[in-house]
Amino acid sequence: MVDCTICRTEKSVKVDIETKLIHSGFDRNLYHGASSLPIFQISTYHQKDPECLGEYGYSRCNNPTRQALENAIAELEGGQCGFAFASGIAAISSVFMLFQPGDHLIVSNDVYGGTHQVLTTVFKQWGLKTSFVDSTDLAAIQKAITPQTKAIFVETPSNPILKITDLAAIAEIAHSHKLYALTDNTFMSPFLQNPLELGFDIVIHSATKYICGHSDVVAGLAVTKDAELGKRLRNIQIAFGAILGPHDSWLALRGIKTLGVRMRAQQENAGKMAQWLSEQQKVKKVYYPGLKTHPGREIHFKQAKGGGAVISFELESTKGAVNFLRSVKIPLVAVSLGGVESILSYPVTMSHALMPRLEREERGINGALVRFSVGMESTEDMMKDFSQAFSNS
Ligand SMILES: Cc1ncc(COP(=O)(O)O)c(C=O)c1O
Repeated sequence: MVDCTICRTEKSVKVDIETKLIHSGFDRNLYHGASSLPIFQISTYHQKDPECLGEYGYSRCNNPTRQALENAIAELEGGQCGFAFASGIAAISSVFMLFQPGDHLIVSNDVYGGTHQVLTTVFKQWGLKTSFVDSTDLAAIQKAITPQTKAIFVETPSNPILKITDLAAIAEIAHSHKLYALTDNTFMSPFLQNPLELGFDIVIHSATKYICGHSDVVAGLAVTKDAELGKRLRNIQIAFGAILGPHDSWLALRGIKTLGVRMRAQQENAGKMAQWLSEQQKVKKVYYPGLKTHPGREIHFKQAKGGGAVISFELESTKGAVNFLRSVKIPLVAVSLGGVESILSYPVTMSHALMPRLEREERGINGALVRFSVGMESTEDMMKDFSQAFSNS
């Protein structure tokens, strides 16, 4: 067993998230007062006494740069133990390894495509059973619970339709049946939503997105609310070894410092773009939790500090969407989200390509749908660019 008390640096004063973003993770007095933690680009550590090993032994088990990031995310999410993994899906998969063959999980039916894929291939083969259920429907969640169920895993807002699940209600259902409540908080980031405070047991991030924020790192993070679950996940992290390297850990720490300003600016742009898109003739539907008409908006604003910076919108046809994506000049047309640059994704050939067409369409994901991760560019420039692209769609 690994001692999980190392996971957390206790702060003697209570501070706001803006301050935590800048100062979380490590004690600067340990590193000559340096403003930023060194990158400990090392695999192993000399042991002065072979019978009494030091705090650090081997970097798969522990590395000071990775540990600083793990401390930072634990502080930001308000949990006991933080974990940094090689990718978001490595974090998600490592969490699923807490369960055993024969166990049953209930998972939001419009979960990230990669989560759906790993559960229906690798973990299915491993003997883990999954029911995909509309997590906005609490009665359906209750109904799906069996004696083998061990956890409920949700995403809110969901990808790409931005459906809203009531986090506090899910945590209550989970705990009343002695199940774990797990969530992927990638779309909101710890700046906008803190599920552990609403009763969740584990929160996960694809740090590739808002946390790193510049589309230049692939990374995953997880935080457990309590130390006991933290010990179990630490053992999996070490045994399975899908850890984040020191350089990427340092980049994630640097990203965290600007998470608040980026998130605020991108969210403000998203609000303007969502309103503008909903006034465009070529746009049939706009999905964005910040819009007054968005289903579940009231629940969303009870549990999150803003609408976020991801919008999805539907054009008139598949041909229209494809022509629009071929014509835009400013945003990237790419997989991923959460960078300072705007990214337009095409769910049917990107995030949801592996999902059977019928299943996809039942979830409202059709060829006319475009997902828009709003960046920090001028919204006026973006509106001009979209207008010229709409005229070709
Ligand atoms: C909501 C969500 N969770 C998890 C992941 C997987 O993260 P990664 O690509 O870092 O493995 C993604 C990737 O797009 C995502 O959008």
